[in-house]
Amino acid sequence: MTSVLVTGASRGIGFSTAQRVAARGGTVFAGARDAGRLAERLAADESTRGLDIRAVALDVTDDDSVRAAVRQVGDTLDVLVNNAGVPGTWAPAAEVGPGDFRAVFETNLLGPVRVTQAFLPLLLASEQPRLVMVSSGMGSLTLQSTGDDYAEIAHLPYPASKAALNMLAVQYAKSLPSVIVTAIDPGLTATEFTGGSGHPVEEGSDAVVTAVFDTAGPSGRFLDREGPVSW
Ligand SMILES: NC(=O)c1ccc[n+]([C@@H]2O[C@H](COP(=O)([O-])OP(=O)(O)OC[C@H]3O[C@@H](n4cnc5c(N)ncnc54)[C@H](OP(=O)(O)O)[C@@H]3O)[C@@H](O)[C@H]2O)c1
Repeated sequence: MTSVLVTGASRGIGFSTAQRVAARGGTVFAGARDAGRLAERLAADESTRGLDIRAVALDVTDDDSVRAAVRQVGDTLDVLVNNAGVPGTWAPAAEVGPGDFRAVFETNLLGPVRVTQAFLPLLLASEQPRLVMVSSGMGSLTLQSTGDDYAEIAHLPYPASKAALNMLAVQYAKSLPSVIVTAIDPGLTATEFTGGSGHPVEEGSDAVVTAVFDTAGPSGRFLDREGPVSW
């Protein structure tokens, strides 16, 4: 049985990932800042009834919260999905300063560092450990600087945080040879994050779920639901 921790599982792509992984027989630790509210949703939601999804209090910006979550998960974890993320400000460049970056990087970059470091001993105790970073095409230097995809979009902290997360994935892949590390671009997905714009949430979680069950690798790829994405 595959054990999987998903951060930011209270809604959106994280909730969908938790539901779909558990439906395929996984044991899911669903991290949420308000675990009580998530437990209520899990009990009430038709799609999660009877599945092995355990709500775990987990704020990725808080060391104590992360340490407590480690104790709840136990000794071994097969897959860590660093999904929790925030959009931050989309204000024009002239109005954006270091404080705006700090807020976004604390969740989108230091969150995955904090959670990965804390859970690493549990991952390394697994026979087939996987580390999944929920990134974004907006973090792709190639896509941001060529082609039409993001030609009209010039935002500061969020794409920078996801570009940094991509580099973190590459460096973890090199540093942790026994772990399959994958960065994922969910694509524009209809969640609270986008105000409902984009493809259905199941399409957003497709590549995340595939990476959760991928025991073949290779490690160090950036993928969406159709295949490789340019870094
Ligand atoms: N939607 C898209 O189009 C899209 C595209 C590319 C990448 N992504 C990425 O996909 C991931 C999930 O996004 P989403 O669209 O599902 O957004 P969402 O619906 O807004 O969900 C974000 C999740 O992150 C959690 N979160 C925020 N700060 C947290 C913290 N400090 N500790 C723990 N959890 C925290 C939220 O929990 P609370 O309920 O506690 O707020 C929520 O569960 C993000 O990393 C995002 O950057 C999304």
